[in-house]
Order: sequence, then C-alpha cells, then structure tokens
Amino acid sequence: MSERVKFATKLGVIATTVGSAVGLGNIWRFPYEAGMNGGGAFLLIYILCVLILGIPVMCAEFVIGRRSKSDTVDAFRKLAPGSRWHYIGYIGVLASVLILGYYMVISGWTLEYLFRALCNDLTGKTAAEFKAEQNAFIQSDFRPLLWIFLFLIINYLILAKGVQKGIEKMSNILMPLLFVILIVFCIRSLTLPKAGEGLSFFFHPDFSKITPQVIVRAMGQAFFSLSLGMGVLITYSSYFSTKTHLIKTAGTVALLDTTVSVLSGVIIFPAVFSYGLDPVAGPDLVFVTLPNVFNQMPVSALWSSLFFLLLTVAALTSTVSLFEVAIAFFINHMHVSRKKATWTMILIIAILSTICSLSIGAWEHIRLFGKTIFDACDYFSAIILLPLGGLLISIFIGWVLKRNISREELTNRDKLHEPLFNAIFFSIKYIAPVIIIFIFLSGFGII
Ligand code: TRP
Repeated sequence: MSERVKFATKLGVIATTVGSAVGLGNIWRFPYEAGMNGGGAFLLIYILCVLILGIPVMCAEFVIGRRSKSDTVDAFRKLAPGSRWHYIGYIGVLASVLILGYYMVISGWTLEYLFRALCNDLTGKTAAEFKAEQNAFIQSDFRPLLWIFLFLIINYLILAKGVQKGIEKMSNILMPLLFVILIVFCIRSLTLPKAGEGLSFFFHPDFSKITPQVIVRAMGQAFFSLSLGMGVLITYSSYFSTKTHLIKTAGTVALLDTTVSVLSGVIIFPAVFSYGLDPVAGPDLVFVTLPNVFNQMPVSALWSSLFFLLLTVAALTSTVSLFEVAIAFFINHMHVSRKKATWTMILIIAILSTICSLSIGAWEHIRLFGKTIFDACDYFSAIILLPLGGLLISIFIGWVLKRNISREELTNRDKLHEPLFNAIFFSIKYIAPVIIIFIFLSGFGII
C-alpha cells in the first residue's frame, strides 16, 4: 500500500476539520433550532451535549481513523475483522445522502443571497419586505433549483480534483476570515435598539422550557454541527500525522465550532427582536434577519456580499466532506472510478434536493410521518442516524476494540498526559452510551 497522504501542517489539520464542522449547521441550523426550542434553555443543553458527548465521540472517531488509515467502512473491517461493525459505515453513507439532500437546498439559498447582495438588491428594504421576498423565493419552483444545480457543479469541480490539496488550502484562508467577519457583525448587532431582549432570550435559560424533545434536538444539533456520528471525522483523521494530539484537536474543534454557533446567535437574536421578527420562524430565520442587519450598516452591499460569500464557502467545505464519505464508499465497494462515483452521487443528490426544495413550496402537502420531505430528511438524519452512529462508535471503542489501542492513539504512545486519557476513555465507554440511550428513550416517550 502506498504511503497515505497527510495534511501538510498543524493549521491544516485544524482548519480542515473545523472546515467540515463549521457550516450551515452553525449559522443557519443552530439559531433556528435554538429559536424553536426555548432559546437559552437550548443553548445550555447544547453546550452540555458538546462537552459530555461530542468531545468523547470525536476522540473515538479520531482513534478509529488514525489507527486504521482507511475509509469509514474499511476502518471497521481492519480493526475488527470478520465482524459486522462495518455496518456503521453504511449508516454513515445513508446519513450523508439524506443530509446532502436538504443541505443543498439551503446552500442554494445562500447563493441566491450572494447574487442579490452583489446586485445591491439587499438594501433599502423594510423587515416585512425582506420576509415577503424570502417567502416568494423559497416557494417558487425553479429559481431555488437553479442555484442548487449551480452549487452541485461547484462541488463536482472540487471533488473531481481530489480533496486534500484544494480543501486544505481553501480552509486555511477562509475559515479565519469567517471568524473575523462574524465578530464585526456581532458588534453591529449588539448596538441595535433591542439587543438586550435578544441576548436575554438567547442566554437566559428558562428551565421550564427544557423538555425531553428539546434535549433530543440539542443532542442532534451537537452531532450535526460537529460532523459526528457518520465517519467524516474517521476519514479526515486518517490523514492526521502520528504527532497530532487527538484530544487537544477534538477540544479545539469543539471550541471553535461552538464559538461560531454562539456568535451566530449573538448576531441573530438581537436582530430578531429589534426588527419585530419571530424567533420561532424556522429554517428561513437567518435569511430573513441578516439582510436587516446588513441594511443598517454603511456600504451594506459590500458586507452582505462578503458574508454570503463566506457562508457559501463554509457550506462548501461541509458538503464536500459529506460527499467524500459516499464517494469513497462507491469507489471501494462498487468498484467504479472516482469520476463515475462522483457523478452518481451528484445525480442522486440533484434528484433528492429537488424533491426537498419542492416540498417547501408546491409539494408542501406531501407528508412523511406528518413532516414535509425536507423536515423528514433533516429529522431522520440529524436527530436519529447521527446520535445512533455516535452511540455505536463509542460502544465499539469502549467495549470492542482493545483499550491499549485507544491508549496508544490518544496518548501518542504514552508521550501525553495519562489522566486525560483515562477521563476520555471513561466517557467513551460509559457516559456517552448511557446518556445517548437515555436521551433517545425519553425523547421518544419510551421512559
Ligand atoms: N457540520 C456541518 C455543519 O455544521 C455539516 C456536516 C458536514 C455534517 N459533515 C457532516 C454533519 C457529517 C453530520 C455529519 O454545517
């Protein structure tokens, strides 16, 4: 076997992993989930989920990836030959297809807004006008599809070129820039008239709002946002060098990812209250509130263009990571070329995301389990499959794989701190599985 490609630099390791983690999940999904599920209460539970479940499960994925140096399915075949653990890889492929199906729709919206920003079409309007325009746009049949297809083509160009080089370089530059921009918008948002009300909604936990459903959704959001539970991080960590400190990397990625989500909340909720919008608006929350914030800034077209450009890039680094899981699977298991595998996936996602897009407009009456197809894809993947994948991964590391292997990987062969390893391993073995099972059972009303 040839030497496996590695990420070139330490920054590259963090930037690509953060690149996969930071995406629409932080800036689009997190604020609307928080808005619909109790604001501050959701934030609190979310942070607990990141600390107690997210970091240990991420470490578990890193162990599997760096040890096996393979794609998701083969990783389990190598580490547990002759067992069925590689079925986790299949869950990952299914989850990636479902997530891509609706993620593309929102990526398409992002392109639409980038286009409008560049045409200086996001200035001089009232909050009500922005809302009406957004409604008309997402419910129309063809325009959203156009942007979806354009976004798919961009994905194809990157994927066909091969991932590492392009992605590592792109992430190194653009991820830090995204941070800077978010901080500028925070400052703008914090000086809005009703900023205090927004902040109190977002930071003040109302404990009466914490229900089993809120906890299930916060757990799903944590897995989604950290790109956990389906093997993306197994694949990425297979490119890590032996010197990478896995626990520290997991902590850094979790911290940066959570910071972006919190910053998004700090931008969006003051705007929601200041412009008389509704925090429980759902998936179009960000697209309705943000143009109002830009609108109030000098040279607003410049800021809004820059923001939607970076959001597009953040979405792109995430979709590429999602595609890569399924493409690697097709190449290895259906024995097709990279090109063919990529085309097949693009085609499947084109069809699925068309259906998801129409399910918000013309096909809104079609329901699966009482949800639109868009919501059903989101629910089934983020709320069910990802935590399920995380559960199985932590059971695999805690109970199936020899403890010594995890120890070697997590301490870089005893060069690093032992107590930290013990704590993480304990969380992977006992705490994470028990809590995930408990949240599932109570969320679905079984206990
Ligand atoms: N984490 C990304 C976001 O927040 C989405 C994503 C990329 C993802 N890869 C993933 C989610 C793998 C789950 C699993 O936008």
